[in-house]
Amino acid sequence: MTNQSLMQRIAELKAQKGAVILAHYYTTPEVQAVADFLGDSLALSVKARDIDAPIILFAGVNFMAETAKVLSPDKKVLLPVPEAGCSLAESCEAEAFAAFKAKYPDHKVVSYVNTSVGVKALTDVCCTSSNALQVVNSIPEDQPIIFAPDRNLGSYIQKLTGRTNMVLWDGACTVHEEFSLEKILQLKAEHPEAKVVVHPECRAYIIEVADYVGSTAGILEYCGKSDAEEFIVVTEAGILAEMRKRYPAKQFIPAPPIDSTCGCNECRYMKMVTLENILECLENESPEVVMDEQVRLAAERSILNMVAIK
Ligand code: 13P
Ligand code: SF4
Repeated sequence: MTNQSLMQRIAELKAQKGAVILAHYYTTPEVQAVADFLGDSLALSVKARDIDAPIILFAGVNFMAETAKVLSPDKKVLLPVPEAGCSLAESCEAEAFAAFKAKYPDHKVVSYVNTSVGVKALTDVCCTSSNALQVVNSIPEDQPIIFAPDRNLGSYIQKLTGRTNMVLWDGACTVHEEFSLEKILQLKAEHPEAKVVVHPECRAYIIEVADYVGSTAGILEYCGKSDAEEFIVVTEAGILAEMRKRYPAKQFIPAPPIDSTCGCNECRYMKMVTLENILECLENESPEVVMDEQVRLAAERSILNMVAIK
């Protein structure tokens, strides 16, 4: 089947079943094209809570679909590739995290949404890269915090807030940790007018050279508002499709990883979602996210606490 006929069949099935497709900016351009809503982790969480449809198909990784199920337990949440994980979520296993938390009984736990429901159940308030600063600032300054699982986002927030009472879990995203400072500086020398836009999951020495640091949605907004015509983009390369669609007159240069042959500025998990497996998933209404109600309830509070912060 061609991409066009796959897209047409997906559109027919969506209409027939009243299904809505949510996709993250890191999925492939053709997957983004069949989405009813495209967003960053925070926008997708809010949308999953508010959506009015019997079926949500999540074109993204499994923690995102789990978050949707936690917020919309009465809806059927479909996930085309359940094995599409996340290196950050995998760097923080619930049992080990519980033992870590036990060492800091007076601390409040702030966790990135890139975690399993088991870790969310141990969390006071979730955050994403869009709202991590607001979430941390919503906690009284004298209240110690455990921040998990991303050490890079955590140390960036520590630097912005000057908080010394934050303990960081030692996890990271393998995509965002692979960017090469040397190659970014070389690109900057070749394109001196270009602005360097960086996701806060990157290492501190990459964040140092950024003109703008923010989530995928924040980066997109900055590129639209900036007078610059060229941007060196230091985040997962899937975002380039939306950048080029929104701002066709501007130039977007993907920052290369340390090893240019590895393709590791692409998230292999996000790229597991294809038009073929979306269609199959819609046809069969499976795989579906299923969750124990006790686990769901335990995780729900931390996500609701996050989406309530304006
Ligand atoms: P945001 O969607 O918050 O930009 O995070 C990027 C990411 O790595 C999602 O997995
Ligand atoms: Fe996880 Fe990194 Fe992929 Fe985002 S880009 S889903 S943090 S592995």
